[in-house]
Amino acid sequence: MGSYTVFSFLGTTLDRARTEEKRWGKWRPNIALCQHEELPIKKLILLHPPSALPLLHLVCRDIAIVSPTTTIEPVPLEVNDPWEFEEVFSALLDFSSTYPFEDKEEYLLHMTTGTHVAQICLFLLAEARYFPAKLIQTAPVEHDESKKGSYRIIDLDLSRYDTIAQRFSFRKREKLSLLKSGIETRNEDFNRLIEQIEFVATNSPDPILLTGATGTGKSHLARQIYEVKRTHNKVLGPLVEVNCATLRGDSAMSSLFGHTKGAFTGAATARAGLLLSAHKGVLFLDEIGELGLDEQAMLLRALEEKRFLPMGADREVTSDFQLIAGTNRDLRQCVREKTFREDLLARIDLWSFHLPSLRERREDIEPNLEYELSKISGRLGMKVSFSTEARLLFLSFANKTEWYANFRGFNASITRMGTLSAHGRITENIVRDEIQRLKRQRGEPPPEEDTVFLPLQLTDSLDPFDRAQLEEVVRVCLRSSSLSEAGRELFSVSRTRKKVSNDADRLRKYLSRFGLTWDGIRSGISVTLTTVDMTNREEPAPLEYSED
Ligand SMILES: Nc1ncnc2c1ncn2[C@@H]1O[C@H](COP(=O)(O)OP(=O)(O)O)[C@@H](O)[C@H]1O
Ligand SMILES: [Mg+2]
Repeated sequence: MGSYTVFSFLGTTLDRARTEEKRWGKWRPNIALCQHEELPIKKLILLHPPSALPLLHLVCRDIAIVSPTTTIEPVPLEVNDPWEFEEVFSALLDFSSTYPFEDKEEYLLHMTTGTHVAQICLFLLAEARYFPAKLIQTAPVEHDESKKGSYRIIDLDLSRYDTIAQRFSFRKREKLSLLKSGIETRNEDFNRLIEQIEFVATNSPDPILLTGATGTGKSHLARQIYEVKRTHNKVLGPLVEVNCATLRGDSAMSSLFGHTKGAFTGAATARAGLLLSAHKGVLFLDEIGELGLDEQAMLLRALEEKRFLPMGADREVTSDFQLIAGTNRDLRQCVREKTFREDLLARIDLWSFHLPSLRERREDIEPNLEYELSKISGRLGMKVSFSTEARLLFLSFANKTEWYANFRGFNASITRMGTLSAHGRITENIVRDEIQRLKRQRGEPPPEEDTVFLPLQLTDSLDPFDRAQLEEVVRVCLRSSSLSEAGRELFSVSRTRKKVSNDADRLRKYLSRFGLTWDGIRSGISVTLTTVDMTNREEPAPLEYSED
């Protein structure tokens, strides 16, 4: 059994007895602590107020009686107010930062004495491992002549409490997945960004600016941020969402700031306006770059003073809302072009987060694919999934292509394929058609000139030199009606020098080096690939003539 070093506060109330004579008839935590044979205490570090010296001396004397082997090390702790959290915390933090803890020692923190504030501070410091110690609590026991009472040791090392640790991490994931809609995104930058946004959403009422190209998820994220704020009780009011591009002309002012009855011709009834509706909630101004300059000025004042003047009103109204703004514009450029107020920008970009385009987070294509499939499955009322080959083909395309509307374009593509799938099965043909559709949408060349999409595991293991060659070979195979026809075209020069033509055989051998077969290519080039271990594949020979 080890022997402990204990940190404890001198109990200026609990360690004190009414008279010196009667003190042995009272349970005193620090003396009681040192009375348990099975809990040998090598050293007791007694933190005490410098003014409590007489009590300190008495306690030291009594401990020497009940536990002669315990060394006592008194440490005066200078705090003006032992109920003042910051002061106590920094005094204890300073102490723990300079204390020479040793690995092989066993430390305990006695939690029974000291103010509740001091106990909370000790707990926090132990949890953060500033004190590499377990906690010990002591308590009196009824009808206990010895007055040594009971004790209990608590180990805060949560890794030892699996279920608690799991609940902690589950709570954290729960919140994070709220912002990510439960998608297990893999892109590190994006995940870090989301963690920051979550922290800011939870802890700050200041405006949040979300920037990024169209379809990167700004509007979606704004709604999720509102949910996070609401989960943490940071807002009580509603989410009021408006796309500023729809606020044009005269009605923009009254839509935002409201108007009184008769404020202008046609104002038959009074209108509260969006800012007032967002009171105690969140106002999401999407496309804030589209807001007119007058509205920008009013908005700035409403943000700074939390007050504004509705149209036609003679008294200001108050609205305390949190702002989220979204834009795909470069607002700094707008400031230079004088279409956006510099002071408003300074006010709203305190927390500015840039959402990456799909191109910048290709790792997330697959998790998003899963998510969209489950969404469309729910909508169509049947499980929608890709065949293995179709999935490889689509991912290979999705990884290379430029998604113009980012996730909006990507999601639409999956929705189309899911809708067209018979019995929820997305086949290679559906994927091929979708790829053509996407290319037509972008005005790219028609299918004949089509690029060949080699499966990702294959292209990733090839030099661009070999890839270009293989793509051309596959392209010829796809437009030929037989292996021999493709061979004739591909070996059209060297075959004239041969006595016996063996184009088909040469081509078959070339393809087999990549794990490809004619039939496989014709029915979707990835078919045979899944069975090939690319790591052990011998180096593909260049497509040159060899007499074999
Ligand atoms: N985190 C996300 N999880 C699921 N779907 C998302 C996510 N972010 C965006 N989307 C989807 O992507 C599309 C575009 O998102 P949106 O927020 O409208 O983009 P933006 O406002 O930047 O143009 C929408 O269909 C939206 O549902
Ligand atoms: Mg949007």
